[in-house]
Amino acid sequence: MTELKHGEHGETEPLTADEIRQLSPEEAMLAGSEADGVHIVHRRDRFPVRGTKAEKRAERGVAACFAISALAGFGFIVAFIALPYKWHLPGTPQNFRFYTPALGGLLAVMLLFIGIGMVLWAKWLMPEEEAVQDRHDEPSTEEDKLLTEATLLVGLEDTGLPRRSLILRTLGLAGGALATVPLVAIVGAMIKKPGTQLLHTMFEPNKTLFPPNGHVPLVFENFRRVGPDDIEPGGLVTVFPGVREKVNGYDGVTSASSPTLLIRLRPGQKVKARKGQAGFGYPSDNPEFLAFSKICTHAGCPASLYEQQTSRLLCPCHQSQFEVLSDAKPVFGPASRSLPKLPLGVEVGEDGRQYFVALSDYKEAIGPAFWERP
Ligand code: FES
Repeated sequence: MTELKHGEHGETEPLTADEIRQLSPEEAMLAGSEADGVHIVHRRDRFPVRGTKAEKRAERGVAACFAISALAGFGFIVAFIALPYKWHLPGTPQNFRFYTPALGGLLAVMLLFIGIGMVLWAKWLMPEEEAVQDRHDEPSTEEDKLLTEATLLVGLEDTGLPRRSLILRTLGLAGGALATVPLVAIVGAMIKKPGTQLLHTMFEPNKTLFPPNGHVPLVFENFRRVGPDDIEPGGLVTVFPGVREKVNGYDGVTSASSPTLLIRLRPGQKVKARKGQAGFGYPSDNPEFLAFSKICTHAGCPASLYEQQTSRLLCPCHQSQFEVLSDAKPVFGPASRSLPKLPLGVEVGEDGRQYFVALSDYKEAIGPAFWERP
């Protein structure tokens, strides 16, 4: 190795451009570090002899991480396109859906293994180095630029990329898979259409389950049917569509997308119905009972804090308020759309008591206003 020039007092003297050109990249990099106030106090190549079994083993370990990352990335894309939105593991209830967890899990594996691969690469294959750096603020001279170029060249050589084609290829695959993930959100929507699933809830009439008219009963969480006597004047209960599922010990309400607030008005309270929804309460001509979607039209939180005195529903997430006597119209906060209203009716059950049913599904999409349709 060429000795660096030292002045009378032992300090490093700057090299000329011609002198730098005579040095090997590593010598120039060390000279550049010194000139830049970076003192490399320890530097050791982990594999001074190239191509040993140990080096190849380390290289394969790093490449395996990148390959796993790439596989998870491609798995993510395939799962996004091929898995149905309602996919659930065989033998689990239909409402335990694993589509989103599957995508999240694959994304996590992809990022995790690309990170592990990078760390192992630095720890197993790149030279050990310890450096101490001084700070300085001068503009770069021609010599500095040449030294920096040499430093970058040595840095690239240190990574081993030019000669580790296995790592280069697997890293390219993993990076390619990672880069395509953001595209899934844009291109995926064109490939995979949501269909009409967002426009229906489990309140949609079902003549197979509930002959002859298909009206879906309203039930409590424990599946007990809800009747007018179950609510005090001024009270509110959360109800669900009475569509039951029994799978592997699970026995209950199937859809988390249809929670509904059933409200009983106080005597004398009158509702100003929205256009086209005049007959949706019970009784239809002068409603005492009203049913609204519990899912806030702002961002989907449960809007279930009911203030009896003011007849307002409050969503705790961002404080939107809905005026129940104006058909749950938003009167405060970020929500811009009324809570959808469920057409309500009453039928006599087998025990001779009256119970609530949904006369049809919601007429508007439930949830955040993004899904509002003309
Ligand atoms: S989710 Fe209800 S106000 Fe934001």
